[in-house]
Amino acid sequence: MPRILDAVSLTENARTRVGSDLAERARRVLPGGATHAARAYDPPIYVGRASGSRKWLVDGTELIDYTMGHGALILGHAHPVVVEAIREQAARGTHYGAASPLEVEWAELIASMLPSAEKVRFTQSGTEAAMLALRVARAATGRDRVVKLQEHFHGWSDVVSSYLDADGHVRTPPGVPSLLGTLTTVVPTGDASALIAELERRDVAAVILEASGAHYGRIPLAPAFISAARDACTATGTVLVFDEVVTGFRVGPGGMQALLGITPDMSILGKVMSGGLPGGAVAGRADLLELLATSIEHPGTFNANPLSAAAGIATLRIVADGVPQRTADAYASSLDREWTGALSTAGIGGGVRRLSSILHVRLDDPGAHARLANAMRAEGVDPLHTSAFCSAVHTIADLEQSSAAFARAIVRASSPA
Ligand SMILES: Cc1ncc(COP(=O)(O)O)c(C=O)c1O
Repeated sequence: MPRILDAVSLTENARTRVGSDLAERARRVLPGGATHAARAYDPPIYVGRASGSRKWLVDGTELIDYTMGHGALILGHAHPVVVEAIREQAARGTHYGAASPLEVEWAELIASMLPSAEKVRFTQSGTEAAMLALRVARAATGRDRVVKLQEHFHGWSDVVSSYLDADGHVRTPPGVPSLLGTLTTVVPTGDASALIAELERRDVAAVILEASGAHYGRIPLAPAFISAARDACTATGTVLVFDEVVTGFRVGPGGMQALLGITPDMSILGKVMSGGLPGGAVAGRADLLELLATSIEHPGTFNANPLSAAAGIATLRIVADGVPQRTADAYASSLDREWTGALSTAGIGGGVRRLSSILHVRLDDPGAHARLANAMRAEGVDPLHTSAFCSAVHTIADLEQSSAAFARAIVRASSPA
């Protein structure tokens, strides 16, 4: 069997076979042939290499990448400074079973950038950060109930899985006890009176929300709502948690909280924070985080592991001045203009929404979303569903190529096969 990275040197027939062989092997050992619902493409694709704004499939196909590590790679793939930091650290050891200077510098960098971060506790993912923040809030308040907003995503743990069905009833997904629906109350997005009514019962430990609006800005949330949530939390002794797993360090060095001028009690972080390696963190008020030193259990083999810390520090040092984020924003703004123009030229109902360096394409026919993502891939551009994460290293050539690709893909997607 050829090594995957050698595939590009094979004949075209052999290269095509490498991809389909992998799909066949994957179906035998991976549920549904995939490891993440967002990567279960049909047809499946396998990436062998990525650099800057581009990635290459095992069959040699080149794609302009807008998945950017599910938003983690604001500096693009394999940024040389980040790669060097990882390489150096790997040679020095990947786990000391003890504290390392890296965790101190990593936490200091976060605290210097994020308004809510007096203290930082590292986790292994954004999902774990949400679990931990809610545990801290429950311990601090002595209350059990938490409140989340409909459609807001905070990872896959039981505690944030509840949702409202079409009739407005709280439901839990398969595998999550329905009893948990009584502990996690879901409020319709943007409904300030419903939120305030819940908080006035004074039995809610925490409100957790994406300050960008659900799905990193796909469904916007009015700043006035967030401000009302801040006031109501303060008035009722409820802990306000911002989910900045995607937005932290991406929309600017200080995240959404700096843009809005609203400081939560705790923030959860991930993605950009660990420079493309696994990681997460809860950052927030010292009095809340200090409970981790006294009453709250939080072990975790890979908390603040040196490899993620090295990648995180290298990345945060580069993004601390806000220049890479502004570069990525400017690129996204041009792409927004081009893609919006293509929709209107083709006379297709829908629009493009931009939050900083993230674009969301919304079509009036929701059935066309999956067709659009597939058509874009066929045109050499890989979005995450119909969203696009831009980086500081996308180029004018990427812009021209992906605008032309979008114009062709949108026409194809709007007419069902
Ligand atoms: C807003 C938000 N919160 C939390 C998470 C969970 O983070 P992780 O995938 O690192 O567990 C995600 C993941 O995409 C996310 O988008």
